[in-house]
Amino acid sequence: MVTPENQSERVVRVPLGERSYDVVVGAGLLMGLGPRLAQVAGRGGRAFLVADSGVPVESLDVSAASLQHAGFAVTRAVITPSERDKSLTTVETLLGRVARSRHERGEPIVALGGGVVCDIAGFAAAIYRRGVPVVQCPTTLLAMVDASVGGKTGVNLEVSASGATSDDHLKKNMVGVFHQPSLVVCDVNLLGSLPHDELLSGMAECVKHGLIGADWGDPGLLEWTRKSIQRAMSLDSEALVELVARNVAIKAAVVGEDEREQGATGRGRMALNAGHTVGHAIETMHCRAVYADGATGPPGLKHGQAVGLGLIAEIACAERLGVARAGLAREVAGLLASIGLPVKAAGMPPAKKIAEAMLDDKKTSGGRIRLAVPTGDGHCRVVEAPSSQALTAAIEAIRA
Ligand code: GLY
Repeated sequence: MVTPENQSERVVRVPLGERSYDVVVGAGLLMGLGPRLAQVAGRGGRAFLVADSGVPVESLDVSAASLQHAGFAVTRAVITPSERDKSLTTVETLLGRVARSRHERGEPIVALGGGVVCDIAGFAAAIYRRGVPVVQCPTTLLAMVDASVGGKTGVNLEVSASGATSDDHLKKNMVGVFHQPSLVVCDVNLLGSLPHDELLSGMAECVKHGLIGADWGDPGLLEWTRKSIQRAMSLDSEALVELVARNVAIKAAVVGEDEREQGATGRGRMALNAGHTVGHAIETMHCRAVYADGATGPPGLKHGQAVGLGLIAEIACAERLGVARAGLAREVAGLLASIGLPVKAAGMPPAKKIAEAMLDDKKTSGGRIRLAVPTGDGHCRVVEAPSSQALTAAIEAIRA
């Protein structure tokens, strides 16, 4: 549910009974972070502020000053937002600093950063003294519409038979717990300093939400996205507030219905994985993004690029199986291209190798691939164990 509070601010409630919380979306919200935190955590006491090293120092200063004016004693820590640093070692170091600040139960940890920082700070908050409140202040579009909402926290784990260190052995989000935030504050002004690629990465998740919007109370979201994406890309504040609020509302509705990802159908949290089974598989394969005009990116795909390509491929697979409307994959590719996201990938390994990597996906059950696929009418369905011909055709649909 999205409710207007004032012209430039929307509040979305995540409906989880006594653990329900607000996601506030607006421009310039960090200036008022302290009073908002005081409303959910009480005035005074300590606040431990964990920031992403990529966040402009002014944003960190504004947040800390607002917390101090509201009576909080603030301790700051800055962490590097890389997948390799998203580790138990980083969490242990952070917990040591939290403990040294004499942080007590009931006192909040505040995360200011992208998805990696949201996940690390949330995990530290979940396990410090068996749980302290966490407040998420996401600084990227991706973190605003996904990682900061829904309570998934955790780190990656290095799993290798030989003990050798390599990114190939990094199992993403292998260790973690559900710990819902007490409050999420999305200040869209932060998106102004975000690298363009990062903004695009978040847009792919917005397209995904648009494709399943009818299932979660917003059947017009895809059409609105089509019409308004350029305004949002040019950082029009009103368009960004609407984009973030409507996408958060989708996430909130999904989480409210299936908090712990127990639903095995397209009507649960699994629906949020549309595009991610192929996406995760190709994200680490050092392929190059290929754009609609034929331009090619550097080796390696960003998460959003991989998810966009994953959407095209998975929908192509569903089309072949008669689950998705014919022509949908081409339409989605057109929308992604109009945003500036790639529509193909160069340098991909053979389809068989990608299918093997897809078996690592968390939705895999008993060695059978499961895809959550948009059907073309705003809904999502699960495709169980697609045939190798359908999978191969899907992967070939995005091969440059
Ligand atoms: N990012 C998927 C989820 O939160 O369930």
